[in-house]
Amino acid sequence: MKNLLVVENLTKAFEGLVAVNKATIEVKEQSFTMLIGPNGCGKTTLINCCTGILKPTGGRVLLDGLDITGWAPHKIYDVGFVRSFQIPLPFMGLTVLDNVLGAMHNKGESPFRAPFHRFWRDKEESNMEKAMDILSRVGLQQHWNLPSMSLGAAQLKMLEVAKGLASGARLIILDEPIGGVDPASAEEILTHVSALKKEGLTFLVVEHRIDIAAPFADYVYAMELGSIISQGTPNQVLNDPKVIEIYLGKGVGAC
Ligand SMILES: Nc1ncnc2c1ncn2[C@@H]1O[C@H](COP(=O)(O)OP(=O)(O)O)[C@@H](O)[C@H]1O
Ligand SMILES: [Mg+2]
Repeated sequence: MKNLLVVENLTKAFEGLVAVNKATIEVKEQSFTMLIGPNGCGKTTLINCCTGILKPTGGRVLLDGLDITGWAPHKIYDVGFVRSFQIPLPFMGLTVLDNVLGAMHNKGESPFRAPFHRFWRDKEESNMEKAMDILSRVGLQQHWNLPSMSLGAAQLKMLEVAKGLASGARLIILDEPIGGVDPASAEEILTHVSALKKEGLTFLVVEHRIDIAAPFADYVYAMELGSIISQGTPNQVLNDPKVIEIYLGKGVGAC
């Protein structure tokens, strides 16, 4: 499989603090690639630089060969690269279905076309079918009519994935998808993500609950103090003495 995402020598400095230091990662198409590392090591900053939320100080970000370094987030979203946040941010007052529909394009959004329902009614109907299909693929179909605020933590994370799918994403970054979720629901989330991967999607998953997430990963990168210190299969990385030291040597509580 080809590399869908290539991050080359990415650096991000905040004043004197180098949060990401020449990090290079490759995410193969249709893979579940995981980025691990203790709190504060630069994981979120790295993905913020990839998705346009922060401008990198140096290095490049390539999506399927296209140089997207420094692009605005909405332009990156338009080329099929989306991310979820550590804390899900749906429109809480809207239903689950409306949140998914909101992530889709519809010609009726244009103020010039909006009054002419017949021009966009077909699209609205097909979007509705597509949204219900997406909800069934993430296990939320029976909740379609509930306000998003009534969902539990795990379901809110899956709603983020559903919105990504609705936007036509090819590559989805999940920032701590199982953070704050009980182990059984965490397994369920990762099982859905694995099934979506088999359908052709690509995931870069930032996670520090590595015991639960590692069995689902194809490839793992470990970060410490802004640098990639280890990479390989989950077994290789989790048995790397450098990784063992950052997780165990300095106390698991630091993760
Ligand atoms: N906007 C910012 N301004 C200044 N420092 C930041 C900012 N965002 C993150 N940092 C710092 O960069 C480092 C990496 O943070 P972060 O990427 O959030 O780590 P992680 O996601 O691995 O926990 C931390 O020292 C953090 O305090
Ligand atoms: Mg983080």
